[in-house]
Amino acid sequence: MSFNKLATLANKRILLGMTGGIAAYKCAELTRLLIKAGADVRVVMTKAAMEFITPLTMQALSGNRVHHELLDADAEAGMGHIELARWPDLILVAPASADFLARMASGHAGDLLTTLLLASKAPVALAPAMNQGMWLNAATQANLDTLKSRGCTIMGPDSGSQACGDVGPGRMLEPADLAEACAELFAPGWLTGLRIMITAGPTREPIDPVRYISNHSSGKMGYALAAEAAAAGALVSLISGPVNLAVPDRVHAVHVITAREMLDACLGGIDGQDVFVGVAAVADYRPAEVVSHKIKKSADTMQLSLIRNPDIIGTLAARSPRPLMVGFAAETDNVTAYGEDKLTRKGLDLLFANEATSTFGSESISATALWHGTESDQIMSNVLGPAGKNLVARQMLRLIHTKWLAAQQ
Ligand code: PMT
Repeated sequence: MSFNKLATLANKRILLGMTGGIAAYKCAELTRLLIKAGADVRVVMTKAAMEFITPLTMQALSGNRVHHELLDADAEAGMGHIELARWPDLILVAPASADFLARMASGHAGDLLTTLLLASKAPVALAPAMNQGMWLNAATQANLDTLKSRGCTIMGPDSGSQACGDVGPGRMLEPADLAEACAELFAPGWLTGLRIMITAGPTREPIDPVRYISNHSSGKMGYALAAEAAAAGALVSLISGPVNLAVPDRVHAVHVITAREMLDACLGGIDGQDVFVGVAAVADYRPAEVVSHKIKKSADTMQLSLIRNPDIIGTLAARSPRPLMVGFAAETDNVTAYGEDKLTRKGLDLLFANEATSTFGSESISATALWHGTESDQIMSNVLGPAGKNLVARQMLRLIHTKWLAAQQ
């Protein structure tokens, strides 16, 4: 590992939270690496962590007194727990045990570390370490999804042989890899600071308690854009319909079901956004009435009365001030012509038109970017892909960024 990769850690204040696990011994080397890179490290240990490595070791390596008690008059006279919560540029919990992840996901504040995490506004990274069965357990995975959707970065774990003799995922990352992952969090990306809201996936419109109207959107395109934007440093707010995908690292997600819920979530977070990207395949209509019980079979035919859903992107585009508005259009025929019509009719700054049947659920996409030229009726275009959705997402973000920069002049 070159020293340069850790250069962004210089003068960064890192609060290292240690929980109980055999991997706690790796924190000695991790602390040494962080200090060598110029970071200021303060260590908070849970009672369980102190069963594995002594506070004295961590104090000697960090050069700072180790904090471990929530109610400690001496500590409060020095750096109290609220002051400590305000101190770091990053909180790294390593090792993060299964029990700790569960307590954090539930918002517990029964010890110093959980209390600090509740009180602090600093970004949080978690380096899980546990037995492979515990890692794969649905409860642990659900807790991780919750923590990711709140913006936590998950570092690792690695896979391999474990202290208990099992083989599988759950080993804490090695100290050098963790130090590098922390350094990456401080590296400025080309979208650093840009606030971007993205809708993704389908919406579901209930007919009765067991049936609904929806479409084939998997959410992959919207999630790829969210992941790539966050990796480039943007602050991403993802408003997601029901999909079967994990929320990408560093993305704040709000989960919704219906078009009206999606509109409410968008309106709730739109102020201050620089860019809005509507990737979601929003149901245009919903049943006029939702029946409260399961509809029974009787006649051979059945009439369903539908009413229009609100147009989310149209509603947001009509606001003033408004972010840069980017839409998508999935069409089965006349893809570019219908795309051009939506670009103009919905008052958008940029639109990506794609063929519907080959894109829904697929890993790849080909899309035509459409935007207005300088002449009033002139529409410009540029074909992206076919390629993987992540690669095309990066190309789309380049175009979005260019348009956003131009709009600032
Ligand atoms: O999710 P995947 O499986 O990865 O598939 C990706 C995709 C096909 C869903 C995506 O590439 C795509 O094309 N999304 C737009 C789907 C669509 O058909 O949108 P639309 O033509 O109905 O709407 C045009 C634009 O208006 C879209 O930006 C849409 O989000 C928005 N809209 C539509 C209806 C509505 N009531 N409110 C809206 O905001």
